[in-house]
Amino acid sequence: SGGGEAKSERTLAIIKPDGLFGNHTDAVKKIILESGFRILKEKIVQLDQESAASFYAEHSARSFFHSLVQYMTSGPVLVMVLEKDDAVSSWRTLIGPTDASKAKITHPQSIRAMCGTDAEKNCVHGSDSPQSAQREISFFFDSMPSAGVQAIEHDEL
Ligand code: TYD
Ligand code: MG
Repeated sequence: SGGGEAKSERTLAIIKPDGLFGNHTDAVKKIILESGFRILKEKIVQLDQESAASFYAEHSARSFFHSLVQYMTSGPVLVMVLEKDDAVSSWRTLIGPTDASKAKITHPQSIRAMCGTDAEKNCVHGSDSPQSAQREISFFFDSMPSAGVQAIEHDEL
């Protein structure tokens, strides 16, 4: 009652195509649950090029954008809404740096070090701010089902 309690927060996590294809889902979920997150919602979706480009629109001018869209549409992804105190920064800390090849050296305990490959195939996504989290959660869970974001399986916990 004295204040100072951390605020419960939500973030969007994605296990990307290399994570699903490489059978890293169970290991990543184990880390999520052991770290005190609740998985509020989850579903597997197959993004099409338009939806992947929309999700990553902030990077549309970057040289890696086309390749990123190709990669993100190369197979299904598992999208999850995670909740805990300071979920956004906690999840970003757990996943580690963007470039998984560097993460293996600098943050060997991170999820991207564990199951990622390089700056593109980095296994997992995490929202970078509470504002981004709100937009990204809405992208996958409010405007669904929408063309090109096909829910293959839906399991609301
Ligand atoms: P970014 O938002 O910078 O990283 P993060 O996922 O850690 O928030 O970039 C978004 C995605 O774009 C990143 O996860 C993978 C891809 N990407 C590349 O393919 N090459 C790059 O050099 C960068 C910076 C990102
Ligand atoms: Mg980002």
